[in-house]
Amino acid sequence: MNAPTKTPKPLQDGGVMKQHLIDPEICIRCYTCEMTCPLGAIEHDDNNVVVDVTKCNFCMDCIPVCPTGSIDEWRVVEQPYSLDDQYSWTELPEQQEFAQAALAEDTADDPIAALLAEAHKGAGGKAKAPATAAKPTVNLHNLGKPATARVAGNFRLTGDPEHDVRHIILDFGAQPMPVLEGQSIGIIPPGLDADGKAHLPRLYSVSSPRDGERRGFNNLSLTVKREDKGLCSNYVCDLKIGDEVQVTGPFGATFLMPDDAQARMLMICTGTGSAPFRGFTMRKQRGGAAPGEMVMFFGARRPDSLPYFGPLNKVPDRLLKKHLVFSRIPGADKEYVQDRMMVEQDMIAEMLSDPRTHIYICGLRGMEQGVEEAFRNIAESIGLPWEATRDAMREDGRYHVETY
Ligand code: A2P
Repeated sequence: MNAPTKTPKPLQDGGVMKQHLIDPEICIRCYTCEMTCPLGAIEHDDNNVVVDVTKCNFCMDCIPVCPTGSIDEWRVVEQPYSLDDQYSWTELPEQQEFAQAALAEDTADDPIAALLAEAHKGAGGKAKAPATAAKPTVNLHNLGKPATARVAGNFRLTGDPEHDVRHIILDFGAQPMPVLEGQSIGIIPPGLDADGKAHLPRLYSVSSPRDGERRGFNNLSLTVKREDKGLCSNYVCDLKIGDEVQVTGPFGATFLMPDDAQARMLMICTGTGSAPFRGFTMRKQRGGAAPGEMVMFFGARRPDSLPYFGPLNKVPDRLLKKHLVFSRIPGADKEYVQDRMMVEQDMIAEMLSDPRTHIYICGLRGMEQGVEEAFRNIAESIGLPWEATRDAMREDGRYHVETY
């Protein structure tokens, strides 16, 4: 007779099992996982996004599409958590102790363990906030009970006629909306979808600092690009002063600023991916943040399609070192952020080898690979294995990616 094994098993085998869960504190309710799951195992209510244990088959399709890593959560359980349990959570339950022992005995040839190890490579691993970051408020306003904001401003940021990017200011009046730089909010477009259901919120990064777009006011700004046929982006870009907007959030608990005078921030973005970095920079400008070094690589088509080009150029170099690169200047070679990173490789190598450095990447999903490749080349040129360096930084809350 075979000895009983404590290796976690899927449900149908009885005993303990690994259950796939979503971290409600970190999830930004973009519902991409739900739309990706081929089995319909992921669903949401007004509050949380949850995984149906009876349907999930560990296919892992949802892992790489999650922008936050909140999807990459697993617990070993005797009794799986029900959908109702998960809907009621504001945070994930701790791993039960019996299961930690079972996990310790997990064997290398356990196919589920192998799948899980693979999953953690998925979206680039689990995100963590900087150790010194302020504690964010999350999920204060949900789908069932959104906040109502009033539009206080809508300014076009780009001269390029092909490229309409807007600076939108939303005022929350007496309703609480405490956001930190790097967090996002959801905007619910009015009307119904083809199935007669209310639209899901679309997420936008906040581009103002925590004390308000207008200092001391309960308002915030967004940086929104009009997308061709984009339901929500067209709605937002056409908003008029005084219009009311339904808002969920705040969301995001990891893409946050360190509060550490020694921390150095290396920020890489394209287009509207600059939004959180405007918030970071304004926080520093207003003297609210520790005075550590900030370096930015910012890619856009042309100067007149780079959001905040004018104000950004006025930020002094001692506060923010700027590398603005352009891909579509007539007569000039196309340049991407990763190309400029290679030009500046000595500076980046020095930052990579400094344990005080935090890296932030925000913008087009397509740039992630090119940026990683540049980091790999630079790291390996000074004898640092890139994957191990990146994973250690992430584990330490010093490597942050938000791409879409
Ligand atoms: P391009 O589209 O000219 O190839 P925006 O979103 O405002 O258009 O800005 C995105 C910027 O990022 C553009 O300059 C765009 O260049 C550039 N870009 C597009 N694909 C990548 C990529 N894979 N890596 C880095 N930058 C990219």
